[in-house]
Amino acid sequence: MSENHSVLFGVRKTSESSVAGLRLRWLCRRDFGALLALERAAFEFPWTRDEFEYCLRTRNFGGLVVERDGEPLGYLCFEARKRSFRLLSCAVAESERRRGLGTLLTRALIERLDERRSKIVCVVRERNLAAQLFLRNLGFRAVWVARDYYFKTNEDAYRMTYRADVAVASDAAERTRRRLLSR
Ligand SMILES: CC(C)(COP(=O)(O)OP(=O)(O)OC[C@H]1O[C@@H](n2cnc3c(N)ncnc32)[C@H](O)[C@@H]1OP(=O)(O)O)[C@@H](O)C(=O)NCCC(=O)NCCS
Repeated sequence: MSENHSVLFGVRKTSESSVAGLRLRWLCRRDFGALLALERAAFEFPWTRDEFEYCLRTRNFGGLVVERDGEPLGYLCFEARKRSFRLLSCAVAESERRRGLGTLLTRALIERLDERRSKIVCVVRERNLAAQLFLRNLGFRAVWVARDYYFKTNEDAYRMTYRADVAVASDAAERTRRRLLSR
């Protein structure tokens, strides 16, 4: 992870956070072995070592890892664009799913949104219902369908976005709804 990413995320290169025995930190080269195994178990068309390498090497690309006792359990890779983040990939070990780890990783990206970069964009396979529901639960919404996006399977892709301004508005609407219901 370059110093750029550290500055981007407002933390030092070695920064970490600890939640219930979990540690969130930057992805680094020594994670590759564990992440490639996780990747192969999670995806039909998994990323290769070269793609993880590219992510580490390339300016404005970065990755986060969640680990317990030094064992990587999940990761998220992103690209920081001028006005948005692009969520490139995210996966959690099968045995650790539905425990909030994917949410922990994605929230770390959501928390970096500001006035300049105010949305996160993600492209999801039409068959990946789990990912669509996961993103929707976080406040992402499907905004666009790309026909036959994946040439190997002729699958459509759903473009899903998280917009900080819309999320704030819907949080406010939810608070109002709760206030009205509690009268
Ligand atoms: C998608 C993925 C990263 C989610 O990670 P996770 O750690 O299991 O997700 P969380 O525990 O944070 O889930 C939060 C919420 O998302 C929704 N959700 C997550 N997985 C779901 C599933 N398989 N089916 C339905 N809803 C799901 C639920 O609302 C869940 O809350 P709940 O468990 O209280 O019902 C994980 O399933 C995975 O690695 N899948 C394979 C890789 C992949 O498809 N990645 C694409 C990600 S964009």
